[in-house]
Amino acid sequence: MSGSLVLPPSTDRETLYQALLPQIFALVDGEQDLIANLANASAALHASFQWLWVGFYLVKNDALVLGPFQGPIACTRIPFGKGVCGTAWAECTTLIVDDVNQFPGHIACSPDSRAEIVVPIIKDHTCVGVLDIDSRINADFSVIDRLALEAVTQRLAQCF
Ligand code: SME
Repeated sequence: MSGSLVLPPSTDRETLYQALLPQIFALVDGEQDLIANLANASAALHASFQWLWVGFYLVKNDALVLGPFQGPIACTRIPFGKGVCGTAWAECTTLIVDDVNQFPGHIACSPDSRAEIVVPIIKDHTCVGVLDIDSRINADFSVIDRLALEAVTQRLAQCF
């Protein structure tokens, strides 16, 4: 599958996810390669919403290392337990940060980021990477995003 996404003319995020997720799953179903699938997943999410940055960090030894992403240049390595990403890795849980300036130890890759969601990718009960999304809007993420993005990371975990 290639080409553009088909999305309804709606700003309702749940409606958009309902249309988008089957298209991301179809992309992944047709390809085994991890990097190819992470790259297309980040592109699909970035194209569907007005987010600043969408991308993946992958666990490599004692750090998260930058993987496929869409958006401004980002930091390449995040230690275990550091920043929002390293904390989501350490706790193996999704983190939603309404105001990144209030998160102790937040790693500012872009001064334009206001809110962030980090979703772990869990394979065999182990965190193998994270999906990280930054928004220019405070408190931009909710349980609707968490549930949809966790469905995406669960599908991507099968590629590891
Ligand atoms: N803000 C993240 C770092 C990654 S960038 O946002 C792309 C953090 O605190 O872990």
